[in-house]
Amino acid sequence: MCGIVGYIGEKQAAPLLLEGLEKLEYRGYDSAGIAVEDNSGNIEIMRAKGRLSCLAEKTRCGKALEGCCGIGHTRWATHGEPSECNAHPHFNDGQTIAAVHNGIIENYTELKKKLLKRGYSFYSETDTEVATKLVDYYYEKHGDPVKAIANFTLRVKGSYALAVLFKDYPKQIFAVRKDSPMIIGVTKKEALLASDVPAILKYTKNVYFVENSEIICLEAGKAVFYNLDKEELEKTPVKINWNAESAEKGGYEHFMLKEMHEQPKVVKDTVSYYTDGEKINLNRSGLTGRTIKKIKNITIVACGSAYHAGVVAQYVIEKLARIPVRVELASEFRYREPVADKNCLVIAISQSGETADTLAAVREAKKLGMKTLAIVNVVGSSLARVADGVMYTYAGPEIAVATTKAYSAQLIAEYLLALKFAKVRGTVSAEKYSALLSELNALSGKIESILNNKAEIQRFAAEAANKKTMFFIGRGVDYAACIEGSLKLKEISYIHSEAYAAGELKHGTISLIEDGTLVLGVLMQQELLEKTLSNLVETKSRGAYVAALTYEGMNKAKEIADVQLVVPQTYDVFAASLAVIPLQLFAYYLSVLKGNDVDKPRNLAKSVTVE
Ligand code: G6P
Repeated sequence: MCGIVGYIGEKQAAPLLLEGLEKLEYRGYDSAGIAVEDNSGNIEIMRAKGRLSCLAEKTRCGKALEGCCGIGHTRWATHGEPSECNAHPHFNDGQTIAAVHNGIIENYTELKKKLLKRGYSFYSETDTEVATKLVDYYYEKHGDPVKAIANFTLRVKGSYALAVLFKDYPKQIFAVRKDSPMIIGVTKKEALLASDVPAILKYTKNVYFVENSEIICLEAGKAVFYNLDKEELEKTPVKINWNAESAEKGGYEHFMLKEMHEQPKVVKDTVSYYTDGEKINLNRSGLTGRTIKKIKNITIVACGSAYHAGVVAQYVIEKLARIPVRVELASEFRYREPVADKNCLVIAISQSGETADTLAAVREAKKLGMKTLAIVNVVGSSLARVADGVMYTYAGPEIAVATTKAYSAQLIAEYLLALKFAKVRGTVSAEKYSALLSELNALSGKIESILNNKAEIQRFAAEAANKKTMFFIGRGVDYAACIEGSLKLKEISYIHSEAYAAGELKHGTISLIEDGTLVLGVLMQQELLEKTLSNLVETKSRGAYVAALTYEGMNKAKEIADVQLVVPQTYDVFAASLAVIPLQLFAYYLSVLKGNDVDKPRNLAKSVTVE
């Protein structure tokens, strides 16, 4: 979802802007553009529809635009089709102000009318052009960029991260944000601005997270932060522990493949961070024994794969800690007028910590007086700052749009929560607790062993490549793994699939099974094995081609399934961590076989910062 970069320093800006935008490609986009202030102080803009390579070609890798101060943008179309005309940056009528924007200006029609009346003209269909001209309007009125931007924020409804160049203020970039992410990095002789950390990691690890309605003025080597009254603000940067290489492919063909292979480490790191021998320590997340005892129920809010991780948590927390858990799509929670419950802990799960709906859900929960905890991957992200407590996952930067390692790390955070809750509330015996904790430490090695034997999954993917539709079925935690496996497949291979709770199949969807339909059953919940096996048999007798994903040594599945994929044994509550690996690999290989853009699937954005 739109990416923004800005650079001011001694180097040529355009190539650096292109490079920064490349690091934000994962966010999803369909056009791109850059604006650079040339040596005579004029602002020049170049834009192109399609991939960044088109913009790079048009600008001769940035050489066509000379100057050391500029802003860049990758656009994920909201208002107006993807086209060069709608691509950012946008100009004011006099071409003295250029702006890039991420977010949605909700009242842009009303603002456009106002500006048209004042004699402004419009060449694009975008809300960003309206935003640019509104800044121009206030700049004409106040003659001061910070005041113009302050007035802009007071007038505009919606979300935005806005970066602006003013011809009258050379070698400066002005910016502001509300509910869309923006970070700032400052080095000795440069200043950078971006939507996300990977774009500036190469320059600095000290990052300023911009708060809502803070206005920034960047100059080479300097960032000044203002409030809406143009009073200067003191801000401290946050140290990011990621290195620049962690945002590179590192010899792998795709980021997704690299990130899948990082899962053993990510799982290990997340477990180690919160455990100390036999102890799980969540104090840093604000969860003390006293707070845990007070929790009467839990609501989990999240979107996409993070929601699927939440479904796993529902099964695991209820089973181990005996606390009622409800999982909700954040986009539903925020508008359904949830009932205030002071004993409810609202857990928000998010990789980016910037997902608009998840953030809004947490704000709503807080408004209702509920305690909130964020399970989040990005240090200092909006969600981490908004929630009462934070449990970071240690996945490092995730670039591929389809999440893999962040999802795996989220599962670990949930298991740790479940186990801790169970211990504090006395719902597991000391022996079971120790056994589960030691298994948690063993998961990393088991994931590694699945990744080391991926040839079998690759073969299975080749067999399935011509399928038009597939079904994933399972019960309990296996069902939760199925919904994630099915989403991965849809996201990157563009093959339609349905994930079904195995018991639900005959309540309608079984009518879709015909000769050769692929049905993949996940069979890891020991108590439910026979039941899911029967469901698989039901599909087989209607012509399905059946695959079974089981623990090693599960011979019963062999008798029924046309294909059996195996993973090492674990406790059933942790099964999703192992089941998901072959499912991720399956989706990956199918995507590769179909020649799709694995890391940047069509129409998708990694970080969805608008509703
Ligand atoms: C987008 C991504 C998904 C992700 C979801 C939630 O839809 O494509 O992979 O699961 O957003 O993102 P979050 O950053 O909140 O985990």
